[in-house]
Parts: sequence; structure tokens; C-alpha cells
Amino acid sequence: PAPGWAIDADVVVVGSGVAGLTAALRCEAAGLRTVVVTKARLDAGSTRWAQGGVAAALGEGDTPEQHLADTLVAGAGLCDEEAVRILVTEGPDAVRRLIATGAHFDEAADGALQLTREGGHHRRRIAHAGGDATGAEISRALVEAVRARALRTIENALVLDLLTDAEGRAAGVTLHVMGEGQHDGVGAVHAPAVVLATGGMGQVFSATTNPSVSTGDGVALALRAGAEVSDLEFVQFHPTVLFLGPDAEGQQPLVSEAVRGEGAHLVDADGVRFMLGQHELAELAPRDIVAKAITRRMLEQGAEHMYLDARHFGAEMWRTRFPTILAACRAHGIDPVTEPIPVAPAAHYASGGVRTDPRGRTTVPGLYACGEVACTGVHGANRLASNSLLEGLVYAERIAADLTAAPLPARVPHLPPHPERPAHPLLPPESRLALQRTMTEGAGVLRSADSLRRAGDRLQALHDEARETLHEHGKTAEPGVDTWEATNLLCVARVLLAAAALREETRGCHWREDRPDRDDGAWRRHIVVTLNPDRT
Ligand code: SIN
Repeated sequence: PAPGWAIDADVVVVGSGVAGLTAALRCEAAGLRTVVVTKARLDAGSTRWAQGGVAAALGEGDTPEQHLADTLVAGAGLCDEEAVRILVTEGPDAVRRLIATGAHFDEAADGALQLTREGGHHRRRIAHAGGDATGAEISRALVEAVRARALRTIENALVLDLLTDAEGRAAGVTLHVMGEGQHDGVGAVHAPAVVLATGGMGQVFSATTNPSVSTGDGVALALRAGAEVSDLEFVQFHPTVLFLGPDAEGQQPLVSEAVRGEGAHLVDADGVRFMLGQHELAELAPRDIVAKAITRRMLEQGAEHMYLDARHFGAEMWRTRFPTILAACRAHGIDPVTEPIPVAPAAHYASGGVRTDPRGRTTVPGLYACGEVACTGVHGANRLASNSLLEGLVYAERIAADLTAAPLPARVPHLPPHPERPAHPLLPPESRLALQRTMTEGAGVLRSADSLRRAGDRLQALHDEARETLHEHGKTAEPGVDTWEATNLLCVARVLLAAAALREETRGCHWREDRPDRDDGAWRRHIVVTLNPDRT
């Protein structure tokens, strides 16, 4: 639909997690007219749910080199070493700047940061806040800073599409806003720089740690705009998510790896510690290895879940160190002080996303990406625990630096949104659940050519139905947030399936039952996808 209103800016940041708000604050501080648009409230995205913390070489004796080494091992041969080097060397100062912005991290009695361990880290290097509420504290601090600086923000704004100028440069975004007064309905923010920081796509699956807003909107927008997207097959399943029953759907409570970092054991129903002997780090092996071991044990024993046993922490440690997890468990009738916690893997993090260079530039000029929506190359085939908040900070700052290094292109003309392009078939929101179940069955922790093909057929049928409705009746599902979310989920799910089918090997968090080995000869490379914007 044609925009009913328009505003101008130098930079429009789409999304308001750690990456989006850091980019916005740094751009605004450098004198750029910055507008933040976000789909729900400023703190509704994934950042607020992060528990474990931020990994950075901040502890005595730790070095960026050691952090680099752990990150490369977890990434299973597909990390971009330059991108990782940037992350680990710029990371410690980025965390210090976050602290200067107002985030309070947990400190020891001597005032030094308290650091914990998580899977894949050979040292204590995870800074945390409020015990296990790191993301909530970061979000609070950044939202407060944004309000204190009176940054322009538009909430409840679902971004629809990228606007581009005659040369194909980003020129702003169209968006659908609800309940924000002056800027309601479909409008546009015109800006020569667009920063995507829309987070992940965990809602592609039926059980995930991600909030309901994580629907792959940024990746779908980028695909529709012709940008390159990479590594979508690498979906990380968090090994320890509170098991709430086989039919539990939507966002599930996370049980942080920091619980294992502080000494919790993974056990089966007989109390056997099955990670011993599987990896030198046992329960603290990289996340893909732990998720696979849990899934294997579940399959062998016909069990729906395993257990995380941290009774030995005692009541006081549970109360002070893991208050969020304690409350979530108790809310579901489990007391981790006196009983082991039932856990199973669930979708957690998209290691892939919109491909960027070290400055955060995508392949569409003027379009940037940072945070979970981006594929900077730091995660490879499996993200190292607690590298994501750090990546959001470091690469958001790099984007702000790039945008202020040279004058921005002149003010962009107000162009209509691609009238020559065919209308996009929209998926009815009722199809969301069917899509999520299809993806969990066909492209979950365990995948095979058959499971991926079956899932692909079902999604193709959903797509065909939407297209037929459009072609036969000249209209499609009623446009609205639910409809666009379902449509974006379908778009990213289809690309994810295609990439997972193509990658005929097992690597990192991509586990092909029918191709159980890593194949460095054929597959030590990335799957990069672009869509033709003139086809639907
Ligand atoms: C956790 O606390 O286990 C999550 C950390 C992460 O996903 O990086």
C-alpha cells in the first residue's frame, strides 16, 4: 500500500535490542538525525531474555587470542577469522562503553567484574548482570539512554519493505504503525542509511527460547530487497530449555548455560552423567555437541527430556545467582533446590542472516545489518555461547563509525514503493502454527533429506495457496502485523529448508542424520542466497 505519511532522517534503525539501540545511540551522538522503529515496545525483543551474559576477554590472564580460539572451534570451520578477530579485540572496550552508558554488571567484593563460564569457553569470561538477568539489564540501560537523549522512536511499527532509489541504493523503509497517534497506518521513513537490527527467527519453530516477535522480519525484508543472505541452515538449538511437555509451543523458559558453568550436571532418568567421556569439557562442551548428546540420549531411551541437576547449589546460591531461572522453574511447579530440572533442546539462535562485511554493510548499498539478523561471519556453523550480545555491541558501533566516516549521500527523493513489482502473496496468520510444526518436524535438531523434502512440500503448498488466492481473487490475506509475520516466517523458512537440504553433511548445529560426517572437501563453504525481487 502507498504510504499515508512520511518522515525524513539520516539513519533509520529497525529494531531495538542491544544492536539497534547501540547503533542508534552512537549515530545520534555523532550528530546524525536518527529514527528507531520497532515492531512492538522498545524492550520486546530477544535482548531482554538473554540470561548468561556477554563474553569478552575481561578477566585476568584472559586474552582476545584465547577468546578467538574458542570461537573458531565452536564455529566448526566456517567462522570468518577476520570478523572474529574484530569481535574479540574490540569486544572488551565495547563492554566498557556499555557500562559507561549505564548497564550495571555483577561485581565481586573487590569491584572486579564477576565472570562465569559457558559451553565452549575454556575460561571464565562471561560478564553477567542481576545474576541471570543480563539482557534485561542491558535493555533497561539502553532504553533509558535512548529516552534520556530524546531519540526519535516509533514503536508498534512493523517494517514492510526497503525503499530504494534509481541506483538501487537504500532510501528508507515503508512501515505499518498501529496506535502511535500522529504516525498511524502505512507510512515511510526516508533515509539514505537503513540499519537492520530486527533480531532472529526462532518463531520459525514450534518451541523456541525467542519471544513471539522473533519472526525473521529483517531477513525476509532483505531477501525481498535482493540482499545476500548466508548460513540460514545453521539454527542453534539451546541444549537446556525447561521441558514443559511434548506439546508446549511458542516461547519456552531458558535454563542458562551458566547453570552448567557453575557446576550443574546433565543426567538421564537413571541419574547417569552422560556427557562424561563424550568431550573434554563434558557438560561445558560447545552447544551443538551438548544438544546432540541430549537428543541422542533421548532417542536411545525413548525419553522426552533429560535432567539438569543443580541441587548441590543450595537455596542461597539459587536465590542470588539464578533468580530468574529459579522463579521460572517454580512457576511451573519444579523446585531446582530439591529436584533436577527437566530439560530438552529448543530453537535458540540464527547463526546465519543478512550477509555483511566488517563495517556492517550488506550487499545493497546503504543497507546495514547488525545483531542476530546479520551474518557477519563470527558464528560460523555454531555460535559460541554469549558471543551474540557482544557481536551486537561491536558491529553496531562499527556501523555508526562507517556512517560517520564520510558524508551521507544527499537527501533521498520520496519514491513510491516499487509500483512495478508484483503484489506479494500474504500468508494468513492461521497458517503460522502449521508452519512452525512443519519446521520442527522436518528441520529441527535432527534433519534428513526426507524430512527436509516433506517439510518443503508442505511449505510450498502454503505458498501456492496464498498465491492462488491472490491471483484468482486479486486479493490476499488482510495485511496486518500477524499476516506480515506469517508471510515473513514462510519466506525465511523456505530459504532455511533449501539451504539445509543443499548442505549434505553434518557440521556445527546442522545435523543431518543421513549424512553424519563433516565433509570439509565439499562443504567448507557458505550457502549464500538471493531472491529475484521481481518474482514472488
Ligand atoms: C544462556 O544463557 O545459556 C544463553 C547464552 C547464549 O545464548 O549466548
